[in-house]
Amino acid sequence: MDFAPYIRDIKDFPKPGVVFKDITPLLKDPKAFQKAGEALVGLTANLKIDKVVGVDSRGFIFAPMLAEKIGAGFVTVRKSGKLPFETISESYDLEYGTGTLEIHADAIEKGDRVLIHDDVLATGGTAQAVCKLVEKLGGEVVQCNFLIELTFLKGAEKIKGYPKETLLQY
Ligand code: PRP
Ligand code: HPA
Repeated sequence: MDFAPYIRDIKDFPKPGVVFKDITPLLKDPKAFQKAGEALVGLTANLKIDKVVGVDSRGFIFAPMLAEKIGAGFVTVRKSGKLPFETISESYDLEYGTGTLEIHADAIEKGDRVLIHDDVLATGGTAQAVCKLVEKLGGEVVQCNFLIELTFLKGAEKIKGYPKETLLQY
């Protein structure tokens, strides 16, 4: 299935100069939503994964489904101040600002094989920070998995040490 017709460009969101890829038309279409989920699962074929890490907030749309299909646990990486237990954190830059991400200190066991999922790879700051969080806890990043890669922002360079899969590239 061609998913491109279900992704729309929003000019100047959330800041002037940014052309934002909006995935909500894909999410609200039952067939496209289902097929996109299946295709993301297909990108993980034959990987042995202990934990799927979803990134706050749009990473939470598909990551739990991936975890369930793969037979892995689901872990949340959240923006700062949202997680209730002991956390470790990483600060990062993204296309339209800066932020801090956190993960529970007990979310990953040493040696866990981890798949990271987010909706969009843009500048790569977010994904790089999540890789660092996973590694600080002793996990191995087996795949960084995205719905969309904005190749012109060169995010892949920030995570070039890790296998990457994306459904759509722009
Ligand atoms: C977006 C997107 C990725 C990140 C990608 O999230 O969902 O997480 O930016 O950008 P980067 O590759 O330049 O780091 P955002 O921080 O806007 O949060 P949201 O999912 O809560 O909207
Ligand atoms: N769309 C969605 N999320 C994003 C984008 C975008 O264009 N850029 C950075 N995060």
